[in-house]
Order: sequence, then structure tokens, then C-alpha cells
Amino acid sequence: MIKKGIILAGGMGTRMSPLTKAVNKQLLPVYDKPLIYYPLSILMLAKIRDILIIVNKGQLNQFKKLIPNGKNFGVKISYAEQSKPKGLPDAFIIGEKFIGNNNVALILGDNFFYGQNLTGKLKDCAKLSKGAKVLLHSVSKPELYGVAKINSKNKIVKIKEKPKKFFSNYAITGLYFFDNKVVEFSKQLKPSSRNEIEIIDLLNKYKKSNNLHADFIGRGGAWLDTGSIDDFYKTASFVAAIENRQGLKIACVEEIAYLNNWISRKQIQNAIKFYGKCDYSKYLKKIASK
Ligand code: DAU
Repeated sequence: MIKKGIILAGGMGTRMSPLTKAVNKQLLPVYDKPLIYYPLSILMLAKIRDILIIVNKGQLNQFKKLIPNGKNFGVKISYAEQSKPKGLPDAFIIGEKFIGNNNVALILGDNFFYGQNLTGKLKDCAKLSKGAKVLLHSVSKPELYGVAKINSKNKIVKIKEKPKKFFSNYAITGLYFFDNKVVEFSKQLKPSSRNEIEIIDLLNKYKKSNNLHADFIGRGGAWLDTGSIDDFYKTASFVAAIENRQGLKIACVEEIAYLNNWISRKQIQNAIKFYGKCDYSKYLKKIASK
């Protein structure tokens, strides 16, 4: 079982400037809560309770104001800083001590997942004991993402980062599950022409030894990447539409913790005090009265 997870929440956010000049992208609102709550909720749904959040150098205080620790969510939160965006696998080099001799999940701080059966799928992925697993999702513009081609047995036969020439509609989403070799493999990577170590090169190391596996979010699920301002607002509209229709919140981390039996009513009360008078607190009151 994977018990440790990393949220990579650094990056310069240049594509969203000026919004991200003073504030980390992952703290900007996606409808009624900060973006970081969405990837955090995904790790929690996978039953991962030991979480490292990697942030940009100098932005730690912003994050700690929102998530001082994981007490109200029933999880353990640690922080680390990344000096500059050196590439996604840098998460495993920074997180080496945190990972220890465990397996680990990585989620990118700007990725949004939603859908039927997602929790079951996540719990399944967290069972990984050897190799690496990626979650694939069909997209209309694969050239914007890491892309995987699969054969009739759902085996990955080719992967490439942002391919100029089309070969598959399957994007590799920003949620990855790895065995402990990931630390050693990441250290072996050489920077690419854009001077970053690349997640595709890391995945290729697993592929070479036949240890790269794929699962699918499926047509009933949604995966949105909040990379640009447009994508950001599309994600916010999606959340607003679902939440207002159902009266249920997406990524309410206290609700997930409560339903997992990780926190008591008392901790929900603490969370309400922490947030103050707001709609989010009203929702928490409803959860605690059930
Ligand atoms: O969203 C899924 C895609 O994410 C994958 O399909 C691609 O294979 C993968 O390379 C990645 O592509 P992006 O172009 O979206 O990566 P980006 O550089 O925008 O980084 C994604 C997030 O990670 C973003 O929130 C910033 C953060 N980040 C990124 C780097 C390179 C860091 O915190 N540190 C870093 O060093």
C-alpha cells in the first residue's frame, strides 16, 4: 500500500501572471476553495495520510496560513521548498528523506480529477507494490501533454512529452504512483534542452524494464489541467455547476476526513472556527450535524 504522497505545488506560474505575481497559483480560488484542496483531496481519497507539499522558495508562509498542519483533515502535512523549477522528478530528490524506503504517489498541484468510481480506482492504484502506474485520459489536444500509446492489451508501447506529431489521444495525467526506485532513477536523469529533468524520461526508465503500467479515468470521469487562465475558469465553472446542482462539495477535505473516520466532530468545529463565517463553514456545519 502506498502511504506517502507528494503534491508538487511550485512552479513560476508565468502563464497566469499577473495573478500569480504575489500569490502561488495553487492558492488561487477554484470556485469556493483554493486549488490546492483538489489535489490534496485526491491523495486523501486514495487513503494517503502522510503528505509532503513542495512549494516555491519564499512561498512557505502563504501555504502555512491556509494549511498550518493537517490536524483538521486527519493527515500529516510536511513542507519542503524547491529553489527553482528544475522539473517534476525533482520532487523525488527533494522528497528523498520523506520517502525513505517507501513507495510514493505524486500529484501535480494544478491537476483536477472528478468522476464516478474515482475513489475505487485511486485506492486500487495505491496498492502498487512494484513499478510505476500512470492514469491516462482521452483528450482532444494531446499535443499539450505527455502522451501514451497503448496496445490492445492496454500495455503502454510509446510515451512522449508534448508530441508535435499525433500518435495517441491518451494524455498522461498529473497523478503518478511509483515504487521506491523512483528516487534513484530521478537522480540519474539528465536535464533536457529546456534545462529540466523530465517526467517522461523517468517513466521511460520504468518502461524499459516492462514496469510501466496504465489505468484509465474513463469517459465518465473528468480530468482538467488548470495550466492557463482559461482552463482555470473552466474548472471553476465545472465545480460551480456540480456543487450547486448536487448541494455536495467537491474536494471538501474535512468532509473526506470525516467520512474516512480520520477526524471527529470536534475537529470539524475547529475547522469552522479556523475559516470563520462563510459558506464553506456552513457546509461543514451540515456535515457535522449528520
Ligand atoms: O498536467 C499533466 C501534465 O503535466 C503531463 O501530461 C505532462 O507530461 C507533464 O510534463 C506536466 O506538463 P505541464 O506542461 O503541465 O508541466 P508544468 O511545467 O506546467 O508543471 C506542472 C505543475 O507542476 C505546475 O503546477 C507547476 C509545478 N512544478 C513544475 C515544475 C517543472 C513545480 O512545482 N516544480 C517544477 O520544477
